[in-house]
Amino acid sequence: MKDYMAPMEGITNYIYRNAYHQFYHPMDKYFTPFISAKPNKRLSFKEINEVSPETNQGLRVVPQILTNCAEDFMQTARILNEEYGHREVNLNLGCPSGTVTAKGKGAGFLGEPEKLEVFLDKIFAGLDMEISVKTRIGTDYEDDWPRLLKIYEKYPMKELIIHPRIQKDYYKNKPRLSAFREAQERLKVPLCYNGDLFTPRDYEEFTAEFPRTETFMYGRGLIADPGLVTAIRTGSAPGKKVLRAFHDKIYGDYQELLSGERNVLFRMKELWNYMAPTFTHYEKYAKKIKKTQHLREYESAVDCLFQEQELMV
Ligand SMILES: Cc1cc2nc3c(=O)[nH]c(=O)nc-3n(C[C@H](O)[C@H](O)[C@H](O)COP(=O)(O)O)c2cc1C
Repeated sequence: MKDYMAPMEGITNYIYRNAYHQFYHPMDKYFTPFISAKPNKRLSFKEINEVSPETNQGLRVVPQILTNCAEDFMQTARILNEEYGHREVNLNLGCPSGTVTAKGKGAGFLGEPEKLEVFLDKIFAGLDMEISVKTRIGTDYEDDWPRLLKIYEKYPMKELIIHPRIQKDYYKNKPRLSAFREAQERLKVPLCYNGDLFTPRDYEEFTAEFPRTETFMYGRGLIADPGLVTAIRTGSAPGKKVLRAFHDKIYGDYQELLSGERNVLFRMKELWNYMAPTFTHYEKYAKKIKKTQHLREYESAVDCLFQEQELMV
């Protein structure tokens, strides 16, 4: 079985994944949040930290690229290969956000299958690297999926990561498991399942229904409960002490990296949006954390939560 950390813009950056790797069951791969490929691309300071071997020691990191232009994809992939030693890159065909899809990128690219096919023809012929793809199953209709499968089966993908929602779903509704089943029956490339694995029970139920699945990617469920994969793989939940140490590592690293209390608090509050509901009686603590304006205030709000409440996971 293989476990992957999902790319999540603003969340699963190199600070988060390094802390995760130190405290929890290691992931087989960590996907970076998407890097936008542009003509004459140079990586920004932030992007360099995401992909550099120095800031990701001991971690298998796969950079993800967002674009609908084959030349830009290949140029960025070559920089990642030649300057940072990456052998694999991942193509984002899943991002549902309006600003991305309006430009025909991310999940928006799925609405232009002819163009997508030309794009894939070019990058698979032109790049001497492993290419994996992370996809939704369509834009507006689930009926798009068989057509997309027909395209995907043509290429020697390293793997295909499927989040079986359509773009229009955003994160609503349930993953459309029949689409994942169709892919499993039809495709020969290795598949990875991604979507709504929030608890060990979700994992068990999914694997009972899809016993052939060997690779899993975790997003929001892992951010809410960083011990999720540890619990799945070892049978025991790491608990509050480990979560506290993990939190403190991220918090300390953000203080070193970012200038200004506001920026640090912004990042930490984003994490608490996911993590707070895993504590008993969390509402009033979550509100307090959200309202804090200064680090000292934030620390005392977090101390109260850890001291006064218990983890439910
Ligand atoms: C805040 C946020 C940021 C995300 N950023 C990315 C991204 O940069 N690239 C990507 O492929 N998916 C991104 N995703 C989608 C996740 O990788 C994942 O596919 C999705 O959350 C479904 O998995 P889950 O149900 O385990 O959360 C993002 C999701 C969220 C909620």
